[in-house]
Amino acid sequence: MLAKEYRRDCGIIAVGGGVVTDLAGFIAGTYGRGVPFVNYATTLLAAADASVGGKTAVDTPLATNLIGLFNQPQKVYLDIATWKTLPARQLSSGMAETIKHACLAEKGVFFDFLEENMEGLLALNPALCEHMAEQNCSIKYHVVMKDERESGLREVLNLGHTVGRAIETVSDYRLLHGEAVSIGLVAQLHLACRLGYVTKEQADRVTALLERAGLPVQIPDYIDREALVRKLYTDKKVKNGQLRFVVQKGIGDIVEFEGGSFATPVTEETAREIIMDL
Ligand code: GLY
Repeated sequence: MLAKEYRRDCGIIAVGGGVVTDLAGFIAGTYGRGVPFVNYATTLLAAADASVGGKTAVDTPLATNLIGLFNQPQKVYLDIATWKTLPARQLSSGMAETIKHACLAEKGVFFDFLEENMEGLLALNPALCEHMAEQNCSIKYHVVMKDERESGLREVLNLGHTVGRAIETVSDYRLLHGEAVSIGLVAQLHLACRLGYVTKEQADRVTALLERAGLPVQIPDYIDREALVRKLYTDKKVKNGQLRFVVQKGIGDIVEFEGGSFATPVTEETAREIIMDL
């Protein structure tokens, strides 16, 4: 952009998936100390999560998403027609963030919709996809409007991401983001069961839906589980050196802990036990 002599009267239009919209938002926030940007999301993952809400970042070999900015796009376009061009694996990856939203909001109504329609959604039925896209945006919008900079409530959008982000990095990015989040969602379900917030039947329902969406629900054999436990400490939610997890309450709600926090401290021993079992 410098070489092409763009100045502060330029703008950026990001056309692509989450990597593109995140990178564009990061550049837009720093180029000339800030130029406007518009996201045109072409993947389900970007439509469900990345392009909306103003978090921008780049991944590095040491950790995902730790270098970035809060920077809101001027506008977000979601082009459902482009989902036809996605490989099945990418579509499933986007479905993980969608199932995450269904786990944490709408008191289970959106989850029921996904359970009833998963095959139609994967077959890209337009009316179903439109409804799903609207629900994803609406759930995220209501959280971000209350806590744009993640001083509290926005942490709920990290459901499944404590283990998810760590496993994405430890897999050396062999796992797609949504695949890693899917395994992370199952890990937090195990924790939620132990803490009494989710029944075994509810955990099984969520796990079954992730599997129907074509997502992994177990840690692959090639992952070094001890390295995964160590990597958990790069999570943004770590406070005073202590791991913290967001957990769901039943299906379609999230646990609010004492003091208005949405993440609970978890000992390394408990996190290790969950990871060794998964
Ligand atoms: N992807 C989580 C968030 O936007 O806060």
